[in-house]
Amino acid sequence: MGKVYLTGAGPGDIDLLTVKALRVVQQADVIIYDRLANPDILQEAKDGCEFIYVGKEDSHHTLPQEEINEVIYQSALKYEKVVRLKGGDPLVFGRGGEEGIYLRERGIEFEFIPGITSAIAVPEYAGIPVTHRGVTVSFRVVTGHESKNKEHSQIPWENYKTDDTIVFLMGLHRLKKITQKLIEIGKPKDHPIAVISRGTTPDEKTVVGTLDDIYEKAKELPTPALIVVGEVVKLRDQLSWFEK
Ligand SMILES: C[S@@+](CC[C@H](N)C(=O)[O-])C[C@H]1O[C@@H](n2cnc3c(N)ncnc32)[C@H](O)[C@@H]1O
Repeated sequence: MGKVYLTGAGPGDIDLLTVKALRVVQQADVIIYDRLANPDILQEAKDGCEFIYVGKEDSHHTLPQEEINEVIYQSALKYEKVVRLKGGDPLVFGRGGEEGIYLRERGIEFEFIPGITSAIAVPEYAGIPVTHRGVTVSFRVVTGHESKNKEHSQIPWENYKTDDTIVFLMGLHRLKKITQKLIEIGKPKDHPIAVISRGTTPDEKTVVGTLDDIYEKAKELPTPALIVVGEVVKLRDQLSWFEK
């Protein structure tokens, strides 16, 4: 039986892959990767390495998670070194925990290799620090995606009244709802918000606005995109660097 490396690929820029991740990619017998992992990373693999795409596009899963788990498991029965390459960090809305549990239940050895998460790196490339002395002392990372079948929101909106920075992943398609909810819980309509599309890549684009006007400004941006809410957004005026 082989060993599985549940590996973070970083947020997009290939240079944000960790040294440890690069090392396992170079040694892998098979690499199972999804849409958000930069495909250029595969060029680092050795000759003969098998590539299996199990792409996911936000909520539109190409393969259901159960099947992905099984693909990883079957690969571990066949190969010595299995790399499961996932965008950002494998445990930040990455379902790496589920994959780990599935493997543990079947006696397969695994290791997590942390990746640089988009939740921090993408705002950083846009010149938005998730914390900043004198502005905010904390940040939270929240899913913007909610199951269509659920009648009531699973997101505890009432908790978001504080002045934390809030980073929403998987939220572009619900941008209008998110801004409405934040206004409903008492945030001012002119509260700063940014949407960053394809962060850390040459296509990166950031749109800045207020809770009131961001939807109209940012609704057409391509995915992947994330949303940053909070006073820290204003620091972009002084800290923007990558898109220059
Ligand atoms: C399923 S979550 C996975 C997050 C990933 N595990 C991480 O740590 O970055 C996917 C969401 O991450 C965000 N995302 C990932 N890469 C991004 C990028 N390069 N630019 C903007 N947002 C990104 C988007 O909100 C996307 O919908």
